[in-house]
Amino acid sequence: MKKPCAARDDAVFCLSNCPTLSTSLFPSADEPCRLVILISGRGSNMQSIVDACRNENWPARVVAVIANKPDAAGLAWAAEQGIATAVVPHRDYPSREAFDVALAREIDRHEPHYVLLAGFMRVLTTGFVAGYTGRLVNIHPSLLPAFPGLHTHAQALAVGVQAHGCTVHFVTPVLDHGPILAQGVVPVRAGDTPEDLASRVLQIEHRVYPAAVRWLVEGRVRLVDNLVRVEGDTQRLFFLGDAHE
Ligand code: GRF
Repeated sequence: MKKPCAARDDAVFCLSNCPTLSTSLFPSADEPCRLVILISGRGSNMQSIVDACRNENWPARVVAVIANKPDAAGLAWAAEQGIATAVVPHRDYPSREAFDVALAREIDRHEPHYVLLAGFMRVLTTGFVAGYTGRLVNIHPSLLPAFPGLHTHAQALAVGVQAHGCTVHFVTPVLDHGPILAQGVVPVRAGDTPEDLASRVLQIEHRVYPAAVRWLVEGRVRLVDNLVRVEGDTQRLFFLGDAHE
């Protein structure tokens, strides 16, 4: 039987310029993969991961949802599902570094194998990112490397691209950058507003993020020369309206 989270104790899981992942973080290969999800707001991507984890019977458990804003709407939904929730309000800390230390302390209480950023709207310090090398994953609402940063849908409309989408990637110290796990593509339609495009992209986000996390918890992901490889040569590009999973 496949070891859950096999990738997590694999030395190839070392992003360039980062220390090798410590095997001591992973005491047992037999326990379900522990996931902590960070949110700042609505949390629809978080919900899609929680639902897929449960409905598809992943060898994994979402052990906590943590927000940097007390009014993040996704917190209530997570609590209703019986998931531990916590708030680390960034406004309570005098610096980015101090916030990141407090955030890491809260995350580490839950001993996660992977930390998933799902609409978590804070730039993280290099020190924080280094502490989760190969275990920190993000979804960004554009086809990276196009349109990093904020207002991606408006950026896309402003330059007239005909395709837009989302990217699930490992987090490195460079913002919206890092080895790509999966991407989802949607068409840009004549007359689209940024809001139209955002809602179309969100639909594909809800397929791409759970699919990528599933590969992780099944231990199918490797980094080779800083590029992601997924065991089974899985299709890693998703299209809106396309039936493949
Ligand atoms: C998503 O579009 C995500 O890609 C971006 O922020 C949005 C969060 O939405 N980073 P939700 O909170 O997951 O509903």
